[in-house]
Amino acid sequence: MKLDINIEKNAAKYEVIIKNGLIQNLSEEIKNVYSGKKIAVLTDENIFELYCSKLESSLNEQFDVSFIIIKTGENSKTLSVLEFVYAKLSEYNIQRSDLIIAFGGGVVGDLTGFAASTYLRGIDYIQVPTSLIAQTDSCIGGKTAVNLAEGKNLAGSFYHPKAVLIDTDFLLTLSDKYIKDGMGEIIKYACIKDLSLFQFLMNIKSKHELFENIEKIVHTCLSIKKQLIEFDEKDKGIRMLLNFGHTIGHAIEKYYSFQITHGEAVAAGMLIITKNSERIGYTEIGTYEKLKAISDNFNIQCNLDNYNKKEIKKYILSDKKNLNNNINLILLKKIGESFIHNVPVNAVDEFITP
Ligand SMILES: NC(=O)c1ccc[n+]([C@@H]2O[C@H](COP(=O)([O-])OP(=O)(O)OC[C@H]3O[C@@H](n4cnc5c(N)ncnc54)[C@H](O)[C@@H]3O)[C@@H](O)[C@H]2O)c1
Repeated sequence: MKLDINIEKNAAKYEVIIKNGLIQNLSEEIKNVYSGKKIAVLTDENIFELYCSKLESSLNEQFDVSFIIIKTGENSKTLSVLEFVYAKLSEYNIQRSDLIIAFGGGVVGDLTGFAASTYLRGIDYIQVPTSLIAQTDSCIGGKTAVNLAEGKNLAGSFYHPKAVLIDTDFLLTLSDKYIKDGMGEIIKYACIKDLSLFQFLMNIKSKHELFENIEKIVHTCLSIKKQLIEFDEKDKGIRMLLNFGHTIGHAIEKYYSFQITHGEAVAAGMLIITKNSERIGYTEIGTYEKLKAISDNFNIQCNLDNYNKKEIKKYILSDKKNLNNNINLILLKKIGESFIHNVPVNAVDEFITP
């Protein structure tokens, strides 16, 4: 399956290829967008161990490949790891005409994108996403970032890859925890834009069935994201719909010291805001129940014991997306239809009661 991304006013144009077993033809796909020899592959320890030999045998005949390996996990999305990446790029004598590949999950993708956008004032890069979140979400749209002590994704840029190459077979080695995380985001896409995806997901009864349909699901999610980012690259309008569940979700992650995973926190955020928007009258009655049923179908629940509304609100208000004492909440009209609801910060309380 293919998808063409064409960001408004030709700011960027690239192709997304989604295919199981694509790793075997990686060199051919890369050659469609890159005519040089030298490639730096950035990956994490975990993925390197799982896929290093497969990747080497796929690339080594055609390219001169060097690896930059970072520690696994969110703690690698920092300025100090970025500095390590710059040092490695310099050690390998990577020039502006060379290529970087982000080979991994969202952490590797965000870090590589930022390194590529800044090293030598910009080098081309390709995304080869390996986690469900990376394949359905972070691999397109061009948001790159590292975290600062003051908060997540606070230093970054918009910098698009030259191509996105997705092999869904990588997902076979992903742990259930991260599958669940990805499912939180997939449910989000269905809620904001696609009733038929929602119904399709409701009928999936096993992991086997999920994986049988994963190419189609990845393609559907990226098609939804494509529609939003092509017209709103910089997140000033409709792209914000992608934040459904995230305003409360991010606050939950922080309040529970990241003991609740991102997907679970987003699912909780979607449920909480929908319960309240339904009560207030913005959302069709019964939407919350449907959302609860789909979360249960994928066993995405989290324990919100000791949820403290005041503290959650504090985290919500420290979010970088707040402007002039107002906040954009994403609400559902019904499943498959969403809208941006701008409220003054003092009105946030009525949307965050669990
Ligand atoms: N740029 C964007 O638009 C965007 C969108 C969503 C999320 N993000 C970012 O993405 C990050 C979360 O992404 P993530 O969940 O992929 O995190 P991650 O990169 O930490 O990957 C999660 C875990 O899965 C492992 N993994 C990845 N692929 C694997 C595979 N095929 N087999 C076995 N294990 C594998 C990783 O080693 C890691 O342990 C966050 O930093 C978030 O901010 C960015």
